[in-house]
Amino acid sequence: MKTLLAEPGFLAPSGTIGADVSYILAVVFTVLFLIAWGMAKKAQGTRHHKLILVSMVSMIVYFVGYYYARSLGVLSFEGREGFGGPDDVYENVFIPVLTTHLILVVLGLIFAFYMLSQGFRASKRVDGEYLLKEGELKISPRKFKIVMLTIFGCWAIVQVLLLATRGNPMGASIAYALIFATVALVASLEKLIEKLLPDGAKRHRVLGRVTMVIFAMILITSTATYIMLYFVYPSKS
Ligand code: HEM
Repeated sequence: MKTLLAEPGFLAPSGTIGADVSYILAVVFTVLFLIAWGMAKKAQGTRHHKLILVSMVSMIVYFVGYYYARSLGVLSFEGREGFGGPDDVYENVFIPVLTTHLILVVLGLIFAFYMLSQGFRASKRVDGEYLLKEGELKISPRKFKIVMLTIFGCWAIVQVLLLATRGNPMGASIAYALIFATVALVASLEKLIEKLLPDGAKRHRVLGRVTMVIFAMILITSTATYIMLYFVYPSKS
């Protein structure tokens, strides 16, 4: 799989199949999200929700598979050797763009997961069509406790599996602990978000637009990275 991904690509003079496929799919997923935004704007709540669900699930399956096959993607795979430009461009342009891209990807994922569940909580179905419910939307203290305990339970199961299956699970344990801590932090931020945007429908519209803008910025930064790596400053080796 790794050898196939490293074969010469078809888009750029010095790209690889892995980079090209990854880039094309990133464009496809972003366009699907933007179409879903257009549907919501036209008050097509059900089509919007279906397209968001299908594209989110396929995006996650693809990225997990791809990053697994490519051992953490552009940073580790290309590294400094993959970038053929001068040091000052590498430090002052390439690395800041790539870092911004990675931060946006993490933020985008957090927002997208939050929005998916918020979308269901903030909607009602009328004659098979999803409509946003105007009015205060709050999580009950009982539900909040269940959410927190579920996150803790999932972390405990993963940790037990790591201890049982890996010789030295230290690195993976830290990574998973950080991931679950982030999930718990985001879930507890809900209390703050409820205070700032008490109306569930307004919350969905405002945070949904923020999510869509983040997705668009992810595409812009990945395009910049792709152009720098494979068109402007390809590797000299
Ligand atoms: C990543 C997940 C999601 C994002 C980013 C998102 C984003 C948005 C945005 C930006 C709007 C407002 C459009 C505008 O006026 O500019 C919207 C409206 C809406 N969303 Fe979502 N949404 C997501 C998931 C969901 C889900 C899962 C559901 C339902 C289960 C849903 C149901 C709705 C409905 C019913 C509207 C109102 C459409 C109307 O105005 O009639 N959304 N969404």
